[in-house]
Amino acid sequence: MSAKLIKGTVIREEILEEITKEVAKIKETHGVVPGLVTILIGESPASISYVTLKIKTAHRVGFTEIQDSQPVDISEEDLLALIEKYNNDDSINGILVQLPLPKHIDEKKVLNTIDPDKDVDGFHPVNVGRLMIGGDEVKFPPCTPAGIQEMIIRAGVETSGAEVVVVGRSNIVGKPIANMMFQKGPGANATVTVVHTRTKNLASHCKRADILIVAAGVPDLVKPEWIKPGACVIDVGVNRVGEKISEKTGKKIAVLKGDVDFDAAKEIAGSITPVPGGVGPMTITMLMKNTLKSLKSKLKIA
Ligand code: GUN
Repeated sequence: MSAKLIKGTVIREEILEEITKEVAKIKETHGVVPGLVTILIGESPASISYVTLKIKTAHRVGFTEIQDSQPVDISEEDLLALIEKYNNDDSINGILVQLPLPKHIDEKKVLNTIDPDKDVDGFHPVNVGRLMIGGDEVKFPPCTPAGIQEMIIRAGVETSGAEVVVVGRSNIVGKPIANMMFQKGPGANATVTVVHTRTKNLASHCKRADILIVAAGVPDLVKPEWIKPGACVIDVGVNRVGEKISEKTGKKIAVLKGDVDFDAAKEIAGSITPVPGGVGPMTITMLMKNTLKSLKSKLKIA
Protein backbone atom coordinates (compact mmCIF):
# COMPACT_ATOMS: atom_id res chain seq x y z
CA MET A 1 0.00 0.00 0.00
CA SER A 2 1.54 3.28 -1.06
CA ALA A 3 -1.29 5.83 -0.65
CA LYS A 4 -1.93 7.72 2.57
CA LEU A 5 -5.45 6.98 3.84
CA ILE A 6 -7.63 10.04 4.39
CA LYS A 7 -10.01 8.82 7.08
CA GLY A 8 -13.28 10.64 7.58
CA THR A 9 -13.75 8.76 10.85
CA VAL A 10 -10.63 10.44 12.29
CA ILE A 11 -11.25 13.94 10.85
CA ARG A 12 -14.87 13.76 12.10
CA GLU A 13 -13.64 13.31 15.68
CA GLU A 14 -11.35 16.36 15.41
CA ILE A 15 -14.15 18.57 14.06
CA LEU A 16 -16.84 17.34 16.49
CA GLU A 17 -14.43 18.03 19.34
CA GLU A 18 -13.95 21.61 18.06
CA ILE A 19 -17.73 22.09 17.72
CA THR A 20 -18.42 20.71 21.23
CA LYS A 21 -15.96 23.21 22.74
CA GLU A 22 -17.44 26.12 20.79
CA VAL A 23 -21.00 25.17 21.80
CA ALA A 24 -20.00 25.03 25.48
CA LYS A 25 -18.38 28.47 25.21
CA ILE A 26 -21.43 30.03 23.54
CA LYS A 27 -23.68 28.46 26.17
CA GLU A 28 -21.55 30.05 28.88
CA THR A 29 -21.37 33.51 27.31
CA HIS A 30 -24.78 33.78 25.61
CA GLY A 31 -26.91 31.21 27.45
CA VAL A 32 -28.06 29.46 24.24
CA VAL A 33 -27.13 26.36 22.22
CA PRO A 34 -27.82 25.57 18.54
CA GLY A 35 -31.20 23.94 17.83
CA LEU A 36 -31.59 21.43 15.00
CA VAL A 37 -34.83 19.84 13.80
CA THR A 38 -34.87 16.87 11.43
CA ILE A 39 -38.16 16.12 9.72
CA LEU A 40 -38.58 12.49 8.69
CA ILE A 41 -41.49 11.44 6.49
CA GLY A 42 -42.39 7.76 6.52
CA GLU A 43 -40.38 4.79 7.68
CA SER A 44 -37.68 4.05 5.11
CA PRO A 45 -34.99 2.13 7.03
CA ALA A 46 -32.15 4.05 5.31
CA SER A 47 -33.71 7.44 6.15
CA ILE A 48 -34.42 6.37 9.74
CA SER A 49 -30.82 5.33 10.19
CA TYR A 50 -29.45 8.61 8.72
CA VAL A 51 -31.79 10.75 10.83
CA THR A 52 -31.03 8.76 14.00
CA LEU A 53 -27.32 9.35 13.46
CA LYS A 54 -27.87 13.07 12.81
CA ILE A 55 -29.85 13.42 16.04
CA LYS A 56 -27.31 11.39 18.02
CA THR A 57 -24.46 13.54 16.74
CA ALA A 58 -26.37 16.78 17.46
CA HIS A 59 -26.93 15.55 21.03
CA ARG A 60 -23.25 14.63 21.39
CA VAL A 61 -22.02 18.13 20.50
CA GLY A 62 -24.49 19.78 22.90
CA PHE A 63 -27.24 20.97 20.55
CA THR A 64 -30.95 20.94 21.31
CA GLU A 65 -32.32 18.40 18.85
CA ILE A 66 -35.81 17.51 17.70
CA GLN A 67 -36.70 14.54 15.56
CA ASP A 68 -40.10 15.28 14.04
CA SER A 69 -41.42 12.05 12.47
CA GLN A 70 -44.46 12.33 10.22
CA PRO A 71 -46.58 9.63 8.53
CA VAL A 72 -45.84 8.74 4.91
CA ASP A 73 -49.28 10.05 3.86
CA ILE A 74 -48.83 13.56 5.35
CA SER A 75 -50.22 16.10 2.89
CA GLU A 76 -47.90 18.54 1.16
CA GLU A 77 -49.88 21.39 2.72
CA ASP A 78 -49.37 20.03 6.24
CA LEU A 79 -45.65 19.51 5.64
CA LEU A 80 -45.23 23.08 4.37
CA ALA A 81 -47.11 24.36 7.44
CA LEU A 82 -44.81 22.31 9.69
CA ILE A 83 -41.74 23.85 8.06
CA GLU A 84 -43.23 27.33 8.53
CA LYS A 85 -43.72 26.54 12.21
CA TYR A 86 -39.99 25.82 12.56
CA ASN A 87 -39.08 28.83 10.38
CA ASN A 88 -40.82 30.96 13.03
CA ASP A 89 -39.38 29.11 16.04
CA ASP A 90 -36.55 31.18 17.56
CA SER A 91 -34.98 28.17 19.30
CA ILE A 92 -34.40 26.41 15.95
CA ASN A 93 -31.30 27.34 13.93
CA GLY A 94 -31.30 24.47 11.46
CA ILE A 95 -34.12 22.70 9.61
CA LEU A 96 -33.47 19.50 7.68
CA VAL A 97 -36.11 17.58 5.76
CA GLN A 98 -34.75 14.10 5.09
CA LEU A 99 -34.81 13.17 1.38
CA PRO A 100 -36.14 11.40 -0.61
CA LEU A 101 -39.76 12.42 -0.05
CA PRO A 102 -42.89 10.40 -0.93
CA LYS A 103 -43.99 10.86 -4.57
CA HIS A 104 -47.07 12.97 -3.74
CA ILE A 105 -44.89 15.73 -2.24
CA ASP A 106 -43.07 18.24 -4.44
CA GLU A 107 -39.46 18.24 -3.22
CA LYS A 108 -38.69 21.59 -4.83
CA LYS A 109 -41.62 23.27 -3.03
CA VAL A 110 -40.50 21.79 0.29
CA LEU A 111 -36.87 22.88 -0.05
CA ASN A 112 -37.95 26.36 -1.18
CA THR A 113 -40.14 26.77 1.92
CA ILE A 114 -37.26 26.34 4.38
CA ASP A 115 -35.98 29.74 5.59
CA PRO A 116 -32.63 30.16 3.71
CA ASP A 117 -31.09 31.31 7.00
CA LYS A 118 -32.01 27.95 8.61
CA ASP A 119 -31.28 25.81 5.52
CA VAL A 120 -28.33 23.90 6.99
CA ASP A 121 -28.40 21.39 4.08
CA GLY A 122 -27.61 24.29 1.72
CA PHE A 123 -30.20 23.09 -0.82
CA HIS A 124 -32.36 26.28 -1.03
CA PRO A 125 -31.79 28.21 -4.31
CA VAL A 126 -30.70 31.26 -2.30
CA ASN A 127 -27.89 29.23 -0.73
CA VAL A 128 -26.99 27.66 -4.08
CA GLY A 129 -26.65 31.22 -5.41
CA ARG A 130 -24.61 32.32 -2.40
CA LEU A 131 -22.27 29.37 -3.01
CA MET A 132 -21.82 30.37 -6.65
CA ILE A 133 -20.89 33.95 -5.67
CA GLY A 134 -18.38 32.54 -3.17
CA GLY A 135 -16.30 34.22 -0.45
CA ASP A 136 -18.16 35.85 2.45
CA GLU A 137 -21.44 35.42 0.60
CA VAL A 138 -21.46 31.65 1.31
CA LYS A 139 -23.73 30.85 4.22
CA PHE A 140 -24.32 27.08 4.22
CA PRO A 141 -22.13 25.06 1.86
CA PRO A 142 -23.89 21.73 1.19
CA CYS A 143 -22.63 19.15 3.68
CA THR A 144 -21.02 16.47 1.49
CA PRO A 145 -19.00 18.91 -0.68
CA ALA A 146 -18.06 20.90 2.44
CA GLY A 147 -16.83 17.64 4.01
CA ILE A 148 -14.77 16.81 0.92
CA GLN A 149 -13.09 20.22 0.93
CA GLU A 150 -12.38 19.97 4.67
CA MET A 151 -10.77 16.53 4.19
CA ILE A 152 -8.55 17.84 1.39
CA ILE A 153 -7.45 20.78 3.56
CA ARG A 154 -6.82 18.68 6.67
CA ALA A 155 -4.90 16.06 4.66
CA GLY A 156 -2.53 18.88 3.60
CA VAL A 157 -3.20 18.44 -0.13
CA GLU A 158 -2.26 21.52 -2.22
CA THR A 159 -5.26 22.79 -4.17
CA SER A 160 -4.00 26.13 -5.52
CA GLY A 161 -3.33 25.69 -9.24
CA ALA A 162 -4.10 21.96 -8.98
CA GLU A 163 -6.00 20.12 -11.71
CA VAL A 164 -9.23 18.92 -10.11
CA VAL A 165 -11.45 16.51 -12.03
CA VAL A 166 -14.97 15.91 -10.70
CA VAL A 167 -16.78 12.81 -11.96
CA GLY A 168 -20.54 13.41 -11.72
CA ARG A 169 -22.79 16.46 -12.00
CA SER A 170 -25.45 16.00 -9.31
CA ASN A 171 -26.94 18.97 -7.47
CA ILE A 172 -25.85 17.51 -4.11
CA VAL A 173 -22.18 16.72 -4.89
CA GLY A 174 -20.80 17.23 -8.42
CA LYS A 175 -22.03 20.74 -9.20
CA PRO A 176 -21.33 22.29 -5.77
CA ILE A 177 -17.89 20.72 -5.22
CA ALA A 178 -16.77 21.80 -8.72
CA ASN A 179 -17.91 25.33 -7.91
CA MET A 180 -16.22 25.36 -4.50
CA MET A 181 -12.88 24.13 -5.81
CA PHE A 182 -12.37 26.95 -8.34
CA GLN A 183 -13.38 29.79 -6.00
CA LYS A 184 -10.77 32.03 -4.37
CA GLY A 185 -9.87 30.87 -0.87
CA PRO A 186 -8.28 28.11 1.20
CA GLY A 187 -8.75 24.58 -0.14
CA ALA A 188 -9.68 26.03 -3.53
CA ASN A 189 -8.10 28.12 -6.37
CA ALA A 190 -8.00 24.96 -8.48
CA THR A 191 -8.54 24.43 -12.21
CA VAL A 192 -11.68 22.31 -12.43
CA THR A 193 -13.03 19.91 -15.04
CA VAL A 194 -16.43 18.24 -14.61
CA VAL A 195 -16.96 14.96 -16.45
CA HIS A 196 -20.20 12.97 -16.69
CA THR A 197 -22.06 10.19 -18.50
CA ARG A 198 -21.82 11.96 -21.88
CA THR A 199 -18.10 12.79 -21.60
CA LYS A 200 -15.88 11.30 -24.30
CA ASN A 201 -12.83 9.48 -23.00
CA LEU A 202 -13.45 9.69 -19.28
CA ALA A 203 -10.15 7.95 -18.55
CA SER A 204 -7.96 10.59 -20.21
CA HIS A 205 -9.59 13.38 -18.16
CA CYS A 206 -9.24 11.47 -14.90
CA LYS A 207 -5.60 10.71 -15.64
CA ARG A 208 -4.82 14.49 -15.66
CA ALA A 209 -6.19 14.99 -12.17
CA ASP A 210 -4.01 16.01 -9.25
CA ILE A 211 -7.22 15.69 -7.22
CA LEU A 212 -9.86 13.27 -8.49
CA ILE A 213 -13.31 13.55 -6.90
CA VAL A 214 -15.65 10.73 -7.90
CA ALA A 215 -19.41 10.94 -7.26
CA ALA A 216 -20.87 8.81 -10.03
CA GLY A 217 -22.76 6.10 -8.12
CA VAL A 218 -21.16 3.30 -10.18
CA PRO A 219 -19.21 0.69 -8.20
CA ASP A 220 -15.54 0.39 -9.23
CA LEU A 221 -16.02 2.82 -12.15
CA VAL A 222 -12.52 4.31 -11.77
CA LYS A 223 -9.76 1.89 -12.72
CA PRO A 224 -6.19 2.15 -11.47
CA GLU A 225 -4.90 3.13 -14.93
CA TRP A 226 -7.17 6.23 -14.81
CA ILE A 227 -5.23 7.61 -11.85
CA LYS A 228 -2.20 9.89 -12.07
CA PRO A 229 0.57 8.52 -9.84
CA GLY A 230 0.57 10.42 -6.54
CA ALA A 231 -2.91 11.94 -7.05
CA CYS A 232 -5.37 12.58 -4.22
CA VAL A 233 -8.47 10.42 -4.80
CA ILE A 234 -11.74 11.28 -3.07
CA ASP A 235 -14.35 8.54 -3.46
CA VAL A 236 -17.89 9.75 -2.71
CA GLY A 237 -19.57 6.53 -3.91
CA VAL A 238 -21.60 4.47 -1.45
CA ASN A 239 -22.87 1.51 -3.49
CA ARG A 240 -24.68 -1.37 -1.79
CA VAL A 241 -23.35 -4.45 -3.56
CA GLY A 242 -24.61 -7.18 -1.20
CA GLU A 243 -25.18 -8.14 2.41
CA LYS A 244 -23.10 -9.80 5.11
CA ILE A 245 -23.35 -10.66 8.79
CA SER A 246 -21.63 -8.10 11.00
CA GLU A 247 -18.87 -9.62 13.16
CA LYS A 248 -19.65 -7.01 15.84
CA THR A 249 -23.44 -7.32 16.13
CA GLY A 250 -24.27 -10.60 14.34
CA LYS A 251 -26.87 -8.66 12.32
CA LYS A 252 -27.22 -8.43 8.54
CA ILE A 253 -25.48 -5.34 7.14
CA ALA A 254 -24.92 -3.93 3.65
CA VAL A 255 -21.65 -4.55 1.85
CA LEU A 256 -20.54 -1.15 0.53
CA LYS A 257 -18.29 -0.37 -2.39
CA GLY A 258 -17.05 2.98 -3.65
CA ASP A 259 -16.87 4.32 -7.20
CA VAL A 260 -13.11 3.65 -7.26
CA ASP A 261 -11.42 0.25 -7.43
CA PHE A 262 -9.82 0.91 -4.03
CA ASP A 263 -7.47 -2.08 -3.73
CA ALA A 264 -5.78 -1.32 -7.05
CA ALA A 265 -6.02 2.49 -6.79
CA LYS A 266 -4.26 2.67 -3.43
CA GLU A 267 -1.07 1.36 -5.07
CA ILE A 268 -0.99 4.36 -7.45
CA ALA A 269 -2.62 7.30 -5.62
CA GLY A 270 -0.71 9.52 -3.20
CA SER A 271 -3.70 9.72 -0.87
CA ILE A 272 -7.16 8.14 -0.99
CA THR A 273 -10.41 7.98 0.98
CA PRO A 274 -11.72 4.52 1.92
CA VAL A 275 -15.35 3.33 1.58
CA PRO A 276 -16.80 3.09 4.15
CA GLY A 277 -15.08 5.46 6.61
CA GLY A 278 -14.04 8.14 4.12
CA VAL A 279 -16.37 10.90 2.91
CA GLY A 280 -19.46 9.33 4.56
CA PRO A 281 -18.81 10.42 8.17
CA MET A 282 -18.03 13.97 7.01
CA THR A 283 -21.56 14.79 5.79
CA ILE A 284 -23.21 14.73 9.23
CA THR A 285 -20.18 16.47 10.73
CA MET A 286 -20.57 19.40 8.35
CA LEU A 287 -24.30 19.51 9.13
CA MET A 288 -23.31 20.20 12.74
CA LYS A 289 -20.86 22.87 11.58
CA ASN A 290 -23.56 24.59 9.51
CA THR A 291 -26.05 24.51 12.40
CA LEU A 292 -23.48 26.07 14.73
CA LYS A 293 -22.71 28.68 12.04
CA SER A 294 -26.43 29.51 11.84
CA LEU A 295 -26.60 30.31 15.55
CA LYS A 296 -23.33 32.29 15.43
CA SER A 297 -24.63 34.32 12.53
CA LYS A 298 -27.83 35.08 14.47
CA LEU A 299 -25.78 36.12 17.53
CA LYS A 300 -23.46 38.11 15.21
CA ILE A 301 -20.32 36.42 16.58
CA ALA A 302 -17.36 35.06 14.60
N1 GUN B 1 -30.83 12.14 2.09
C1 GUN B 1 -29.61 11.63 1.81
N2 GUN B 1 -28.65 12.53 2.04
C2 GUN B 1 -29.27 13.65 2.49
C3 GUN B 1 -28.79 14.93 2.92
O1 GUN B 1 -27.60 15.24 2.92
N3 GUN B 1 -29.75 15.80 3.33
C4 GUN B 1 -31.08 15.51 3.31
N4 GUN B 1 -31.93 16.44 3.71
N5 GUN B 1 -31.55 14.32 2.91
C5 GUN B 1 -30.64 13.41 2.52
